[in-house]
Amino acid sequence: MAEDNTLGSADEVDESRRTFVKATGAATAATAAGVGVPSATATATRKIRKLIDEMTLEQKVGQLTQVALGESGEGFDPNDEFATHDDVETVGELFTDLHVGSILNGGASGPTFDGEEFVAGLNGLQQFVVENNEPGVPFIWGGDALHGNCLLDGCTSFPQRLNMGATRDIDLVERAATHTGESVAAMGGHWNFGPTLDVLRDMRWGRYFEGHSEDPMLLGEMGKARARGFERNGRVAATVKHFAGYGTPNTGKDRAHVRTSMRDLRTRQLPPYRRGLEEAKTVMVNSGAVNGKPAHGSPWLLTTVLRKRYDFDGVVLTDWDDFKRMLTNHEYRPDTDGGWRQAVKEGLQAGIDMHMCGGETAPTEFIDTTVDLVESGELSEKRIDESVRRVLELKHEVGLFEQPYVPEDEIGDIVGGAADVSERLAKESLVLLQNEGALPLEDDGNVLLTGPGIEDGTPNRFLMQHGGWTLGWQGVEDGFLTADGPRPRQTTIEGALADRLGDRLTHVPTEFEPAVYESIYENFDNGFFDVTDEQEAAVLEAAGTADAAVVVLGEGPHNEGFGDRDRMRFPESQRELVELVDGETGDEVPLVGVIFAGSPRGTAETFQHLDAVLFAGQPGSDAGVAIADTLFGDYNPSGKLPFTWEGNVGHVPQFYDDYPPRQSVDASAGTVQFEFGHGLSYTDWEYSELSLSADSVKDPATNPTVTARVTVENTGRMAGDHIVEVYNTEFYGSVLQPHRRLMGFERVHVDAGGSERVTIDLDLSTLEVVPGDVPGWRPKVVEAGEYECSVGAESTTLTVAKTASITDPEPAPGRYDINDDGREDFADVMALHRRLKRRR
Ligand code: NOJ
Repeated sequence: MAEDNTLGSADEVDESRRTFVKATGAATAATAAGVGVPSATATATRKIRKLIDEMTLEQKVGQLTQVALGESGEGFDPNDEFATHDDVETVGELFTDLHVGSILNGGASGPTFDGEEFVAGLNGLQQFVVENNEPGVPFIWGGDALHGNCLLDGCTSFPQRLNMGATRDIDLVERAATHTGESVAAMGGHWNFGPTLDVLRDMRWGRYFEGHSEDPMLLGEMGKARARGFERNGRVAATVKHFAGYGTPNTGKDRAHVRTSMRDLRTRQLPPYRRGLEEAKTVMVNSGAVNGKPAHGSPWLLTTVLRKRYDFDGVVLTDWDDFKRMLTNHEYRPDTDGGWRQAVKEGLQAGIDMHMCGGETAPTEFIDTTVDLVESGELSEKRIDESVRRVLELKHEVGLFEQPYVPEDEIGDIVGGAADVSERLAKESLVLLQNEGALPLEDDGNVLLTGPGIEDGTPNRFLMQHGGWTLGWQGVEDGFLTADGPRPRQTTIEGALADRLGDRLTHVPTEFEPAVYESIYENFDNGFFDVTDEQEAAVLEAAGTADAAVVVLGEGPHNEGFGDRDRMRFPESQRELVELVDGETGDEVPLVGVIFAGSPRGTAETFQHLDAVLFAGQPGSDAGVAIADTLFGDYNPSGKLPFTWEGNVGHVPQFYDDYPPRQSVDASAGTVQFEFGHGLSYTDWEYSELSLSADSVKDPATNPTVTARVTVENTGRMAGDHIVEVYNTEFYGSVLQPHRRLMGFERVHVDAGGSERVTIDLDLSTLEVVPGDVPGWRPKVVEAGEYECSVGAESTTLTVAKTASITDPEPAPGRYDINDDGREDFADVMALHRRLKRRR
């Protein structure tokens, strides 16, 4: 076992840097035990400073380099060929020759899907690094465990982020994240690239399923809870991403530029990240451009806002190859050596700490360029030292210096766990969109289940229920189906219905082939769907005798730009299938659509044929039991849409809290199919006696929360959960106000015939606007006036006496940077003085 000479110990000051770091690594994988996370002590800070002083420039820049492993089959063995780029021969040489500080396995898949092999592999590589690399600093592993640790066979795949948003259940979402964090830590990882806090506005975007919500407060609260959950064990860092504005790319094209305004950015786009930053240790940057400036080259975003205004001192990581993307994607600099050098320089100067070298960037390209920039005096070494300090502090905070290895026998007990959390989350996330008395189904008849399903013996409907970042980047096992490949722990809709109905279930699966990324531009259905003649005949035969029919509809798993699409109606074969079943079943036979999708997939054209529609999203491992229990009324649906379900892509974007005039204020005009917050239940709910803890607030800056109370009565015949939401529905101020904005929400369980008095905290910062004329520079404030607060048809008035700021009392960052040098200081006063003098 190592001597007690870790970063956290107070009495070790004099040992040489090499001895000090090597000694931390003397603990072997076999002796790894209980990991305690040292707090950031003065001693640690001193030691980190000393370590930086003794490092060479190359070693320092190495610490700022993250390399993707696995692109060409590289594993964790130091002797494995490093085949992605030709700068070093082996994986081990990345550390001995290039001194890289971090590795990642992108795409939710590592070199193995086996948990114990994974730990053993990482431990082995870590031991090699600590013992052979100068200066012996352990590497930090990062990856995408985004809805559960879905890098391992048998994992619990929690519902995707869009589903999480539908639950409004912050505590449960945090419990899921806590399990994920434990699993990542037990696997040997110390960095999880979530939560994603990009505001959703465009359903065409291929990453819509990742976004939680289009409402900034709901999104931010979800993200904060998830970051807290990931980091709870003290051994894993969470990442707020993709800073900032990544969720609203132009025309829904991934990594396109974002059209926003200073007012929109400050009121709606930035707040979710800011909430997440209250918990997360790291940030990943938006691959796109914001108002014509690549986010990776924006000192305003990465330093002025993030560091200075938000006081964030954690590690800022690029996204995948994003310095290159400044040349290729954005055509911001020429795609030449000079253009690359300029991009690296601008990125580091803007405030990036670590560069993620994916498939396009050889680590040496980044390292050599950066070293050269410093040696030629174009970039200060002080700037590099600052980033190295942040990286080493991060490693210290997650306990890597103290305990670089993890026990190899813990992961087995964690993989596939938290099933209770996952099942409940899946149930809570289902949104009943329409129901003309069809649901719940009677439990004594024959049921036809059809829709995209099993093909050639490969149970591939599971792919639709999990979505991207599940045992592979796109959720389809590196793009290819295998009959016996790794699977999440799971129940399927077919399995759960078969358990319940036995031979009263007739299952007629129809064709589904996932659109792997090479082929995805061939269609915009996110999959290839078909119904063969035999399947059609079988459907017709079963429909004739069915007492109920369930048609699974939707889209296949997809990810990033390869998931972008330009239409949202169901694929043709699915539309025809619904019409086929509708034509063959009598009016008394309930026809139910269940949608597996990571977006609002489906239009009125199909919904009009269905008696009930259940939006299941991508509910993950426990999809089968959650859906079957809901269809048969063992669970009463309670989810609410976290987004606006637009009627037609031609109307995009129509987020619910946009400025008036919105094309429709309710679904009746047809441009919106289902509004934000829509979700039916099997019982009826009534509200009464809405009151506020205070009808007026003198100063929102000192009293940023008001409590609403409302009585919720379950007037129907089934117990159930209900989400109570309080919206501000009317206000007149100095700038446009949305028709509705969410101020607070609470989930409550009420027995049939019962009632509950529910307490909901209203976050007054949701009322903040940027007043003033077009530029949108002024401090963000809650304006004085009368705010209508509504729960359903109940409403009351909150009077705000004084205009005041809760979150952003200063003008937009940079407003007083008159001489444009990134600082607001006395030099600006002088610059302003000179300017005014000239004007006289
Ligand atoms: C690219 C994605 O944009 C990002 O979200 C992810 O974390 C990285 N790849 C690493 O896989």
